[in-house]
Order: sequence, then C-alpha cells, then structure tokens
Amino acid sequence: MAPTILVTGGTGYIGGSVLNTLATKHPEYEIAALLRRLPEGFASRYPNIKVINGDYDSYDIIAEAAENSDVVVHNGNSDHEPSLKALIAGLKRRASRYSPAFLIHLSGSGLVADWREDRTPGTRNSKTWSDIGDLVEIRSRPRGELHQNTEAILAAAAAEEEKTGVKIAVICPPDIYGKGSGPGKVASIFIPLYVSKIKETGRAFYAGEGENRRGWVHIEDLMQVYLGLVEDAVAGGKNADWGTQGYYFASSQEASQKEIATTTGKVLEKLGVITNAEPLSLPTAEIDTMIKVYPQYPLLGRYLFASNSRTTADRATKWLGYKPSAPSLWDTVEEDITTALAE
Ligand SMILES: NC(=O)c1ccc[n+]([C@@H]2O[C@H](COP(=O)([O-])OP(=O)(O)OC[C@H]3O[C@@H](n4cnc5c(N)ncnc54)[C@H](OP(=O)(O)O)[C@@H]3O)[C@@H](O)[C@H]2O)c1
Repeated sequence: MAPTILVTGGTGYIGGSVLNTLATKHPEYEIAALLRRLPEGFASRYPNIKVINGDYDSYDIIAEAAENSDVVVHNGNSDHEPSLKALIAGLKRRASRYSPAFLIHLSGSGLVADWREDRTPGTRNSKTWSDIGDLVEIRSRPRGELHQNTEAILAAAAAEEEKTGVKIAVICPPDIYGKGSGPGKVASIFIPLYVSKIKETGRAFYAGEGENRRGWVHIEDLMQVYLGLVEDAVAGGKNADWGTQGYYFASSQEASQKEIATTTGKVLEKLGVITNAEPLSLPTAEIDTMIKVYPQYPLLGRYLFASNSRTTADRATKWLGYKPSAPSLWDTVEEDITTALAE
C-alpha cells in the first residue's frame, strides 16, 4: 500500500516547498494537505493531492487526518499548540493500530538565539550550537524563547515514544533564503522584513558593530533534510534518529548582520530603492521595537537584526548524508530582494 503523508502549511513558504518536493519526488505517496484556503490552480497542479479543509484550530479534523496518515509533516506555524496537540493525539490513535506513526515538526533556531541574554546587541557570540553535542541544553531552553512552547510539547511526546509508538523528529532551520517551490507563498521571512524596514529608515542597518552572526540555509537544501526524514519514516524509521534524539538543525552557512546590511544596501541602491548604499549602525532601542507584528515578542527587532543564532547541522550530516549544494545566500540575495519588493 502507498504510504499516506499529511502535510500542513502547504500554502506557505516552507510547507509549500515540502508539499511540492514530496509530490514531485514521490508521486507514489498518497499525500493529503490540510488547508484553510486553496490557491488558484492548486487542483490542476496537484491532481493527486487530497485536500482536507480546516485551519489549525479544527481539532477534530486535524486529529482525524493524522490518524489516517503514516507520516505527518507539520509546517506553517511553529508556535501553534492546539494543532500540534491534535496531530499528536491523532497519531497516537494511528500507532495503536499501526505502529510506528511519524511526526516531523518544523521549529526554528530562534529557540537558541541570544536576544534575551544580558549582552550587547550587535556583538559576536562564540557559541555555536550542535544538534548532537548540545541536545540536552537545546531541549531545556527556558520559557519565553521562541518556539519553546511547542518544543516542550514535542519533547514530552518524544519521551513517550516506547509507550505510544509515535516517532517524532524536529527540524530546526535557521533563517531561510531562496525562492520556495510551493503553490502559495514563495518568499521567506527575514529578507522581506529587512527590506521593508530599510524602506522606512532609508538605509541598510545593523546594531553596534553588526558583528552578530546567524545561520542561513537555502530552501532547496532544507528540502534535503525533509526528504531524508520522510523517506526514512516511510522505510520504518530505522536509519535516522527519532524521538528523544530526533533533532535536526539545517544551517549551511553564516552571515553577520554587517555583511547582510552591506550587501542589501548595495542591491537596494542599484535597484533605486535607496540613494545611499552605505549601511549604518542604528541605536539598539530603535532596532528593538521595529517589528510590532507579534505583541508577545516586543523585542523581535533585536532577535532578527541584532542577535546571534549559530547552529551546525551535525545530525543531518551524520544520518541523512546532508550535503548543502544550493547557491549561497550571496548568490541569491538580489533575486530574494527583488521578490520581496514585488510582494
Ligand atoms: N521562513 C523562515 O526563514 C523560517 C525559519 C525558521 C522557522 N520558521 C518558522 O516556520 C513557520 C512557517 O514559516 P513560513 O516562512 O513557511 O511561513 P508562511 O509562508 O507564512 O506559511 C504559513 C503557512 O501556515 C498556514 N497557516 C498559518 N496559520 C494557520 C492556521 N491558523 N490555520 C491553517 N493554516 C495556517 C498558512 O496558511 P494560509 O496560506 O492559509 O495563511 C501557510 O500555509 C513559522 O512559524 C516560522 O517562524 C521560518
């Protein structure tokens, strides 16, 4: 029988790329997508994907969809607790009949960023997190860190694997760049947000000396990690790590905020969006409060533009043969900025 795969967030940047990757590479999979809206042309592009109508608060619909799936790949909102709980409940029911059942959950390396620490924004932090060597610390990040609320639910469910038969893997990407391949949104988060703020300030910017560094990955390379884990799940979950050890960073390169600012400034000047390419150091207080879309995180500007978030994809390299090969951030940044400006 064909493996049944449920994908959430299929109209989004990451979830859409996951959906497209699985549908393209594995036409033999029986794929279902939980969607609250259907993008134009979806049915003709993916005639074999079953659409389940529902949003992340449709508990019963989500739990039933998970119960009918061998593998769930959950994307779209890394912080949404009710949808995650519904998926785990449905997978537990599944695994009570057909064990094991699999959940691959999208998190984000904001979890280990240093924006809440007592340190000067814009300075370099020597700490680089390994998803093998630092797993205990990663799993016990304090309340209030980005995505910690759902990570705690996942860690508790992973610890119960022997009892429940639900095998869990967390994919924890850094900032993502490159054009997505899905049917909906194809732009990522960081570059469009940064460009929108530069349009307001008139100059590319950083905090302090701009020496803070963050990991990056091309969306196509990230798909290698997804594909590797889904294929391992379909094969029974014997080659990769799952459960308490099932934690995967995906970073392929790093950049400092000063480097990002310098490059973005040059591109925006070339495109006629700003008149001075030279980036400048803005007061931390101004950067801190720039992003107001998430009231629960009033210092999100500091997280995005002035923090360090440095991770290495040790586990994907070890178990999935992860070899990032997509173009670098610097090769694609102009295209990403152009896409952001067109949005
Ligand atoms: N992009 C990055 O660089 C990055 C890196 C690491 C982690 N992350 C995390 O990954 C998550 C997804 O990021 P993304 O860039 O893929 O976001 P995105 O492009 O905005 O996609 C969000 C997806 O989730 C769906 N969705 C959101 N809320 C929903 C709800 N209540 N019910 C049903 N569907 C819902 C959206 O559906 P609609 O189309 O119907 O709105 C869309 O398909 C975020 O939590 C983000 O923090 C992102």
